[in-house]
Amino acid sequence: MNIYQALNSSYTLLNNNSNTKRLDCEILLAECLRIKNRLDLFLNLNQVLTQDEISTFFNLIKERQKYKPISKIIKKKEFWNFEVDVSKKVLIPRPETEVLLDLVSRVLKKNLNIRFLDVGCGSGCISLALLNIFSNSSGEAFDLSRDAVLSAKLNLKKYNKLNRVKVFQKDLFQFKTDKKYDLIISNPPYLKLSDYINLSRSIKIYEPKNALVSDRKDGILFYNYIISSLKNNLKMNGFFAFEIGDNQFLKIKKLLSQNGFIVISKFKLINGKIRCILAKKIKNYALQ
Ligand SMILES: C[S@@+](CC[C@H](N)C(=O)[O-])C[C@H]1O[C@@H](n2cnc3c(N)ncnc32)[C@H](O)[C@@H]1O
Repeated sequence: MNIYQALNSSYTLLNNNSNTKRLDCEILLAECLRIKNRLDLFLNLNQVLTQDEISTFFNLIKERQKYKPISKIIKKKEFWNFEVDVSKKVLIPRPETEVLLDLVSRVLKKNLNIRFLDVGCGSGCISLALLNIFSNSSGEAFDLSRDAVLSAKLNLKKYNKLNRVKVFQKDLFQFKTDKKYDLIISNPPYLKLSDYINLSRSIKIYEPKNALVSDRKDGILFYNYIISSLKNNLKMNGFFAFEIGDNQFLKIKKLLSQNGFIVISKFKLINGKIRCILAKKIKNYALQ
């Protein structure tokens, strides 16, 4: 069997399991053959596969038939300019989170000695990108999940950045510190329980529920807590950067303004929903 035949016989196997069946099969075959760019498959369509390569490929297809996300099958996801390991029980980094980092990178000066706090760090993708964008930065990152902490450490170590960020396991709702930061950034769980039910099978089976679901009411529990309990840990003119859920903007904006912040930048998805915001500290309520 050659590459052409393997691909042709694999596409139909995912007819009922994926909306991106061609792409999925090509990524999986490229992975089996250790080809970096899947388009190179098409330059080598006549290449004959070994028995091992064929069986590995069709075993991966079987995993996809069980709705496993491609990134979980190949155990990695491209994020910013990194290849983030997602083999542990962590959320797969999403493109919207890259947009959050883009907002931050447009406003904060690149050469500043920025000190950040990454709340709910998951795979460590946000810290990794921040350390890359702001070459003099350093920070702290924590998560409730042990797997997330291990994953963040693994990813930061892989890119020699673990010496610039302290990663630890902690529940946000127990977290206290005297430190002052320039930036507190978070993509916290923001779904309400009723939203979770409608997520795809792929997410529900393979991604941690406590990375996604916030509360039963409106999904803003984490923002509420972060803003009210960590506002005094931001320096004057420091920033909160949040990824937020659908229809949460007005409530979060109100919370921010009640606590001395103004939203200075936001990003809307193509459907008009605001997904990322950056807010600046303009009043110090602690001193009033
Ligand atoms: C939406 S995920 C974001 C992960 C990562 N920052 C990213 O953007 O891909 C939310 C993260 O918050 C963590 N988390 C949930 N509850 C938490 C809590 N009470 N304290 C700290 N972290 C929590 C989850 O384990 C998960 O890793």
